[in-house]
Amino acid sequence: MSAGERAHDDRLLLDVRGLTVRFPTPDGVVQAVSDVSFQLHRGETLGVVGESGSGKSVSNLAIMGLLNRTRTVISGEVDFKGRNLLTWSSDELRKVRGKEIAMVFQDPFACLHPMYRVGAQIAEAVTAHSDIGNSRAWARAIELLDHVGIPNAKSRARDYPHQFSGGMRQRAMIAMALVHNPDILICDEPTTALDVTVQAQILELIEGVKREFDIGVILVTHDLGVVAETANSVMVMYAGRIMEYGPAFDIFSRPQHPYTWGLLDSMPSIDRRLEALVPIEGSPPSLLTPPSGCPFHPRCPYRFEPCATKLPPLEAPTAEAHLDACWLPWDKKVELGTQRAKKVAA
Ligand SMILES: Nc1ncnc2c1ncn2[C@@H]1O[C@H](COP(=O)(O)OP(=O)(O)OP(=O)(O)O)[C@@H](O)[C@H]1O
Ligand SMILES: [Mg+2]
Repeated sequence: MSAGERAHDDRLLLDVRGLTVRFPTPDGVVQAVSDVSFQLHRGETLGVVGESGSGKSVSNLAIMGLLNRTRTVISGEVDFKGRNLLTWSSDELRKVRGKEIAMVFQDPFACLHPMYRVGAQIAEAVTAHSDIGNSRAWARAIELLDHVGIPNAKSRARDYPHQFSGGMRQRAMIAMALVHNPDILICDEPTTALDVTVQAQILELIEGVKREFDIGVILVTHDLGVVAETANSVMVMYAGRIMEYGPAFDIFSRPQHPYTWGLLDSMPSIDRRLEALVPIEGSPPSLLTPPSGCPFHPRCPYRFEPCATKLPPLEAPTAEAHLDACWLPWDKKVELGTQRAKKVAA
């Protein structure tokens, strides 16, 4: 898509191109995120998956302008509604962060102060950037808590965070994120700490919020199952790079990258009792010294001659929007990918 066409895509919220993040440390430079490009549209949930340390959070922190600029080297472009966020001043970013782009973290205490009533914290967020009076802000807080499914919101607003269950705290965080009617909601492992039933409810809430407010959602998770249920598109990351990226249906029906196959094999399928889970052997590399060539090659059962030396480009083998970064020949990807797809089909 050319720049001209991009300008006309009014559903496009975020256009990230070549995002690269480096952390200089005493031990060397951590290559946390390398050449990450993706788009997010209104009404879309982008699932970002990958093992621990693959650069999921750092990518989103870079987008939010939450990385310390003096200790981080960031390059690339992050166009938000047509303007590159990476060139914004800290003051400009502060106006966007938490408002037009809001974030929900795994740990609710990252956002909720344990010593203040939940309702008061939301009301404070309401008054912080508007001239609404305290009583109207309190009413708005109750309205938001009610909206995200807190029962008896009026009285529960007076509770402290520890009086809420884990699921309710997560709902309160979502309420907090909605205070300023954001365009983008970034959810980083929003359900990892919750049990399965509550997890499903929170995902449902995020989906509902997305539809109702017509926003874009980035859903970061270790769990391909979570992504399978809610995402429209999926980005699979490994060692700071995108291994595979495309529409969710395509990723699950014909995954193209051996790393994605590994994730699928290690994920419980519909009939978990009958299937042995096969974890990916080995562990992710140090990002101080990532492997040459394809970063996944040392763990890849399908590696062959070019993998150790040449970095495979992220591209679509066909004309479709389903990209992968792997040297395997196309017919091999189709054959092996189709076998994997059967495992999760249900
Ligand atoms: N401030 C920092 N300084 C140095 N290295 C960092 C810093 N923050 C993150 N990293 C490194 O960057 C890499 C990517 O980290 P990131 O937190 O994005 O991973 P992740 O995919 O979110 O993992 P997880 O699933 O565990 O949350 C890791 O190797 C991490 O150690
Ligand atoms: Mg993370």
